[in-house]
Amino acid sequence: MAKNSNLENAKRAKKDEFYTQMDDIAQELKHYREHFKGRTVLCNCDDPYESNFFKYFALNFNALGLKKLVATCYDGSPITGNELPLIFDVSEEEPRRIAYKVEITEVTDVNGDGAINLADVAYLLQNDKNVLSRLNGNGDFRSDECVELLKEADIVCTNPPFSLFREYVALLMKYGKKFLILGNQNNVTYAEIFPLIMENRLWLGYKSGDMAFRVPANSEPRETRYWQDETGQKWRSFGNICWFTNLDIPKRHEKLDLWKHFTPEEYPRYDNYDAIEVGKVSDIPDDYFGVMGVPVTFLEKYNPDQFEIEGITKTWFGAANKKYGDQIQVNKNGTKSKVSKLNDGAVLKMSSPPPGKTYYVVSDEIFIQTFPRILIRRRK
Ligand SMILES: C[S@@+](CC[C@H](N)C(=O)[O-])C[C@H]1O[C@@H](n2cnc3c(N)ncnc32)[C@H](O)[C@@H]1O
Repeated sequence: MAKNSNLENAKRAKKDEFYTQMDDIAQELKHYREHFKGRTVLCNCDDPYESNFFKYFALNFNALGLKKLVATCYDGSPITGNELPLIFDVSEEEPRRIAYKVEITEVTDVNGDGAINLADVAYLLQNDKNVLSRLNGNGDFRSDECVELLKEADIVCTNPPFSLFREYVALLMKYGKKFLILGNQNNVTYAEIFPLIMENRLWLGYKSGDMAFRVPANSEPRETRYWQDETGQKWRSFGNICWFTNLDIPKRHEKLDLWKHFTPEEYPRYDNYDAIEVGKVSDIPDDYFGVMGVPVTFLEKYNPDQFEIEGITKTWFGAANKKYGDQIQVNKNGTKSKVSKLNDGAVLKMSSPPPGKTYYVVSDEIFIQTFPRILIRRRK
């Protein structure tokens, strides 16, 4: 790979360094235990010396009945502190890891006390059945040798680089892999991801919302959602993290309780799509069987036996039935600007300007735009 593109990858990878906490992994994984028996698990964005995904599976290797655990790490990642100390390449601007893999097939309880202490990867490697070896390439999950490991794996579980989420999921789909991965809720609206949700080939796991991640020592301070703890460890948090999976979970079969009744006054119809607006998931009426636009958080409650998904307003996939011409956006403070964004979402027609809200004027008619909406329909 050319030096420039190596450097570019290293820069991008730096922005992707968010290390998942053990507790977040354990809290989610406890719902999926039965899927792992006799399986080979691959963590393909994970330096075993610092990834809690690797540590979780190593610690629970016997309890889950795993066949094999493989972790690979990427040489574009900057060193953050805990990993192999031998791998500095002095010609680089910043020290980086070498790419290597660890393959675990046996975790023994050496002192027979039933507990396995895996604080140290070196401990695992004392067993001849477990191997640490250098990769030939840079450990990119898309590289041939990593794809070979992917092909051999039954379940892939990691927090992949945020910036490569689309490509990451595309590869999992291409090889028909089972997976449980962390991502950002915004990813659901991507043109590459949403159709998979619609086709029930991917869904959300249990936890959605706030999550904090360790970040490398050289991370820049930020005004919000950034702090340094008493040990000096830097942290970042996000309010919209969720798990994406194609492993079946009981939550997916829980029925959402519906108690509201439909009235045309309470549930207005969109101006650019034949559906009603439902502003809160808890307000989905129990007696309406046409299409409804609901907040994206609906996906946290989605049971495919109860609802089917018809589309999404933000991406539309050509479904909107009207195109707005010249639009004037009138902001809350009265300032006006020419825009075209009314076409990017579900639109409600208003009889007068809504107080305290941004609205749009098109040929003397007044409109507001909703937040992105998932278009759903009740199954009878
Ligand atoms: C969001 S972090 C998560 C790290 C670890 N999986 C965890 O959860 O703690 C994503 C990791 O993927 C690495 N990475 C970035 N680009 C990659 C690529 N093309 N192939 C494999 N790993 C990559 C980053 O260096 C980073 O360590």
